[in-house]
Amino acid sequence: MRTQVGIVGAGPAGLMLSHLLHLAGIRSIIVENRSRAYCEARVRAGLMEDWVAKLLIATGVGARMQREAMVHDGIYIAFNGEARHIDFHKLIDKQVFIYDQKEVVTDLIAQRLADGGEIHFEVEDTSIHDFATDKPKIRFRHQGKAEQIDCDIIAGCDGFHGICRPSIPANAWRGYDRVYPFGWLGILSEAPPPDKELIYCFHERGFALFSMRGPQIGRLYLQCTPEEDLEKWPDARIWDELETRLGGVRPLKRGKVLQKGVTPMRSYVTEPMQSGRLFLAGDAAHIVPPTGAKGMNLAMADVRVLSRAIEAFFKSKRNDLLENYSKTCLNRVWKGQRFSWWMTQMLHRYHGIGEFEDFDMKRQIAEINYVTGSVAAMTSLAENYAGLPMA
Ligand code: PHB
Repeated sequence: MRTQVGIVGAGPAGLMLSHLLHLAGIRSIIVENRSRAYCEARVRAGLMEDWVAKLLIATGVGARMQREAMVHDGIYIAFNGEARHIDFHKLIDKQVFIYDQKEVVTDLIAQRLADGGEIHFEVEDTSIHDFATDKPKIRFRHQGKAEQIDCDIIAGCDGFHGICRPSIPANAWRGYDRVYPFGWLGILSEAPPPDKELIYCFHERGFALFSMRGPQIGRLYLQCTPEEDLEKWPDARIWDELETRLGGVRPLKRGKVLQKGVTPMRSYVTEPMQSGRLFLAGDAAHIVPPTGAKGMNLAMADVRVLSRAIEAFFKSKRNDLLENYSKTCLNRVWKGQRFSWWMTQMLHRYHGIGEFEDFDMKRQIAEINYVTGSVAAMTSLAENYAGLPMA
């Protein structure tokens, strides 16, 4: 097989890149080790920045999102039994959109296939080769047969545990890592969320978040240990704990628990995000703790930058945008890292793990009190949460 851009991974980054390249008249092929059904069902955070929603609409993949997404003007932060609203719409004239990442993936797969795009699902033994030359290759097995894609550029969009990042020679990159001493226990429930907007709760017993996937479906999270045993969390205990941490700011309706899982929390950045003709995008290059809801948004920003750089490369024989890819992306990535870390440290309890946990709790309450009381501080949170400007 021969194409211009070989893409590893059919998550939001790989699919959106392929879509943007198609609109620019550039050919690509995607390989993905999971099945189409798996990609379309993988539950992830579901919050889109303002510019990402506009990009989906502007590039013709936003119709269902426009019908089905829940549009939020802001968020609540609750502490000491009080919920304070931060109104992005009023402060900075931006909104955020609740639309699960799996819906974005579903819409993008449908569009790529309708446009004649090539996606190979359920491939095995994927490996990348010769990206230090101008003839890189992707090799894989499909239905028992060895295949090769000859291309000009490889995009590594294969997630944090993918094969692309570790294929870069060890002396050509480094990772910046921060692991948090807690995780999130998340449930999907058949119960309406306590508010139509998100409530982030700081409580003595730990953080909790009340999000949703629809007016009648709650997506709720509790701070827990990174290796929390789900066996110890029967549904009634989860609901009791959610109710306690909500602190009485809203009534909480209970319902059937449809799904349960534990997510560990980590910040990670790869520098640089490129090597020769290989370019990493999304989780393959960086991950954030979910508190700032930045994961998919940073992935979309990477591929927006990459698609333009690739277009300049093929259409104007310009190499400079590709050469600067990593530098351009990292500028935004580190701001996203900073914001995600900041939200995380402000809203989680360090009980039994922090050196100065009692002092920190008072300091965190003062910070939340300030952040939800000062127009300057609320504006700063709003700018970061709803998405920094994207050229
Ligand atoms: C979610 O709805 O899954 C969600 C929303 C906001 C976050 C994290 C997760 O900060």
